[in-house]
Amino acid sequence: MMKRRIEFLLTVALCLVLLLIWTRQHAPPPPSKDVQLLPDAILGRKRQSAVSRRPPRLGPPCYQNTSVVNVTGFSDLPERLQNFMYYRHCKYFPMLLDLPDKCGGEAGSSGVFLLLVIKSQPENFDRRVVLRETWAKERQHKGLWIRRVFISGTTGTGLEKRRMNKLLEVEHRQHGDVLQWDFQESFINLTLKQVLFLEWLDDRCPRVRFLLNGDDDIFAHTDNMVEYLHDVHGEPGGDKHLFVGSLMEGTGPVRELNKYFVPVQVQESDSYPAYCSGGGYLLSGHTARVLRNMSRSVPLHPIDDAYMGMCLAQAGLRPSGHMGVNPGGLRIPSSKVDAHDPCYYKDVLMVHRFMPQQLYVLWDQVHDPGLRCWSNSTWP
Ligand SMILES: *[C@@H]1O[C@H](CO)[C@@H](O)[C@H](O)[C@H]1NC(C)=O
Ligand SMILES: *[C@@H]1O[C@H](CO)[C@@H](O)[C@H](O)[C@H]1NC(C)=O
Ligand SMILES: *[C@@H]1O[C@H](CO)[C@@H](O)[C@H](O)[C@H]1NC(C)=O
Ligand SMILES: *[C@@H]1O[C@H](CO)[C@@H](O)[C@H](O)[C@H]1NC(C)=O
Ligand SMILES: *[C@@H]1O[C@H](CO)[C@@H](O)[C@H](O)[C@H]1NC(C)=O
Repeated sequence: MMKRRIEFLLTVALCLVLLLIWTRQHAPPPPSKDVQLLPDAILGRKRQSAVSRRPPRLGPPCYQNTSVVNVTGFSDLPERLQNFMYYRHCKYFPMLLDLPDKCGGEAGSSGVFLLLVIKSQPENFDRRVVLRETWAKERQHKGLWIRRVFISGTTGTGLEKRRMNKLLEVEHRQHGDVLQWDFQESFINLTLKQVLFLEWLDDRCPRVRFLLNGDDDIFAHTDNMVEYLHDVHGEPGGDKHLFVGSLMEGTGPVRELNKYFVPVQVQESDSYPAYCSGGGYLLSGHTARVLRNMSRSVPLHPIDDAYMGMCLAQAGLRPSGHMGVNPGGLRIPSSKVDAHDPCYYKDVLMVHRFMPQQLYVLWDQVHDPGLRCWSNSTWP
């Protein structure tokens, strides 16, 4: 009788334990007091794209940080900055389009001398078409490989978003040069794009030698870049610190209410460490790896190029200037001469900003062996 009772009690206890384990495993984690759940896409639950062999690294689930509403002056901030503060800690978004073999795997990636990393929104189709034909063409220059990726988020919602994603999907299939993550494109989210790219680089092209990181409306003289990088770093190159572009020193957050506005709630300090204008800069593979390490701990900042400066500073490194990088456009000495005269561009590394058709013509002209210029050192 006693034995039966003990057996019964033990069975009940076992059932209770099993039930407890089951509920633990199947119930969602209790949301903590000050967090709200984001939609599935942001949580990384989305089905992985068929193109990716290895699932991209998923970060912790991304919650809205509602404590920011108690930051002084929060309710007076523009909506996009409130949004930035809610999700500032979210650095991981799922990949929609991946290129696992872009650089020929970990070992092969040391054979890529210059990887062109071009920030391009889905709708900038015409720019990508022209870049593939001009300075971003995948090729060897002086025996050194140049490869290209466009990095993108998503635009629009609903049907428009699906249409734009489809466009990138077709380009990705046909040209093998599009990386896309599931986050909304915006000026502020450019920082996110950079951080996600650095993580991708570490996974897929860890030994790449140099990178050009730039916009899709620049003129980048990629032949000159390869020669410059090869000259300054020698063989094999890319294993030392290098970060060059148009140097911004002694600047600080813009406090006026415009596109670049950064409120004190986001950054209290009135100064930025030195950085290079985000239109286009060159960096070594080594420096990209350092930046990726730093970006894991440096809190996101709404201005992407200033953020890179913060990550460099965190690592005790400095960017440098190069007079061949002119994000503001060249200062052409006289209004009588054609500002698109190829003679101004044949010696530069990079100039901002051009219409696709201007790039198309210019790239052809600077390669014209018959190009005659009045002097070989004319650009200002
Ligand atoms: C904001 O502060 C108030 C008063 O201190 C507090 O009751 C509330 O819980 C806080 N809200 C959040 C989301 O932290
Ligand atoms: C949420 O915001 C508060 C107030 O700005 C901040 O102190 C806290 O570190 C944030 N939490 C996370 C997870 O970023
Ligand atoms: C940045 O992307 C996230 C994820 O798509 C989105 O929730 C947020 O609104 C975007 N931020 C801005 C300022 O557009
Ligand atoms: C980045 O961090 C990893 C792990 O902490 C470390 O092994 C590696 O040396 C770091 N890379 C650079 C370039 O600092
Ligand atoms: C310009 O060209 C001449 C003759 O080819 C050469 O001697 C000179 O060093 C060049 N100057 C510059 C600044 O490149």
